[in-house]
Amino acid sequence: MSNKMWGGRFASGPGAIMEEINASIDFDRHLYRQDIAASKAHADMLAKQGIIGADDAKKIAHGLDAILSEIESGKFSFKRALEDIHMNVEGRLGELIGEAAGWLHTARSRNDQVATDFRLWMRDTIDALDIALAGFQRALCHKALEHAGTVMPGLTHMQTAQPVTFGHHLLAYVEMAARDRGRFADARKRLNESPLGAAALAGTSFDLDRDMTAKVLGFDRPAANSLDAVSDRDFALETLAAASITAVHLSRLAEEIVLWTSPLTGLVKLSDKFTTGSSIMPQKRNPDAAELVRAKTGRVIGALSALLIVMKGLPLAYAKDMQEDKEGSMDALSALALSIAAMAGMVTDLEPDTARMKKAAGEGYATATDLADWLVRSLKIPFREAHHITGRIVAKASEAGQPLHRMPIAAMREIEPRISEDVFSVLSVDRSVKSRTSFGGTAPKNVRAQAKKWLRKLEKEKS
Ligand code: ARG
Repeated sequence: MSNKMWGGRFASGPGAIMEEINASIDFDRHLYRQDIAASKAHADMLAKQGIIGADDAKKIAHGLDAILSEIESGKFSFKRALEDIHMNVEGRLGELIGEAAGWLHTARSRNDQVATDFRLWMRDTIDALDIALAGFQRALCHKALEHAGTVMPGLTHMQTAQPVTFGHHLLAYVEMAARDRGRFADARKRLNESPLGAAALAGTSFDLDRDMTAKVLGFDRPAANSLDAVSDRDFALETLAAASITAVHLSRLAEEIVLWTSPLTGLVKLSDKFTTGSSIMPQKRNPDAAELVRAKTGRVIGALSALLIVMKGLPLAYAKDMQEDKEGSMDALSALALSIAAMAGMVTDLEPDTARMKKAAGEGYATATDLADWLVRSLKIPFREAHHITGRIVAKASEAGQPLHRMPIAAMREIEPRISEDVFSVLSVDRSVKSRTSFGGTAPKNVRAQAKKWLRKLEKEKS
């Protein structure tokens, strides 16, 4: 049997392989809500413009509502033979309301329909991701406030560099998440134009009110060029690009959690809630959730590059290639949503071993810069020279196997005779972090103020 929707010139239906490669219903069924909302808006507008009868429009609206509840209650049977969500819905509408259903597709095409549905879906997804990222930020801020004064080793090149506070480290991710949210918000702004009414590619001879459907669907305006409206997938690319950067950020924190929870460092503990055991090694406590967040980044970046490749070199206007936009995007963005939730959960759950962190912070002569700064400030020695003197003191301390703050003053004076007892006031890790009060620095005072500022901002957003 030929296809009911488009089979007029076909004597028979597609072959099995054709049907299999062509059908998108297995994934575009997730667009049902958006598809039904857009169809209702379209039918209302057609009736208002006198293009279809008011009675028919009413029947269409009722039928679409009935389909929505069928789908939501799991009673709808999706048919592969009907290819995609658009024809599944329209096919069922015909069964429910008969001939009136035939008016719905006036002055539209699946091309503007799918572009509209997918934009609406992407917009809903961006909104949900934004809420999730705000939750992640809140979790980070609460933990940061709790640990504003917890000293940990700050690293560069994975080498002990200078002591920092754990709260400060966590707030770095709050900044990243803020930029992530900004990127999603930017993408959302450009996304928010309605393709509906562009029809197949050229517009239509019917007197449509595209402003009306745009408004009803919450778009800012109708897309201005019908060819562009049906063939543009920038909104998906931009969202996936923002998602990729977000996933990269999450993977960095995930990697840190893996390192911190390793017995090799033992800086942080995760509870049973976010760890798993090994089936052979009874002592193990594996940070699987963090590892999976780290790994899911691959899917997100993969979806972005897959879609870039789909779009590359694609001539205007619509081509079936674009059907490949949905599966990867949906998979990637749901993986991202899960990753954000898991990271927020882990941040709340994790407990630093503050004693161990402090000890590690003091290892590796982490306060050497503080000594150099003291020489500059107290003895008015130029920094380059102070750096050199400090290097010699560190070498001496290291030979003696002593940390800087335990070094006898006499030993230091052999290198710089003017050094006084006052130097010990800057050599402890606590003094070191406390002194970093420059704007954006790691001092507990700064961290407390920043965390509170963010929490106030996040609280305000909610209302
Ligand atoms: N399932 C299709 C997609 O996702 C809908 C648009 C089909 N348009 C067409 N002219 N065959 O892209």
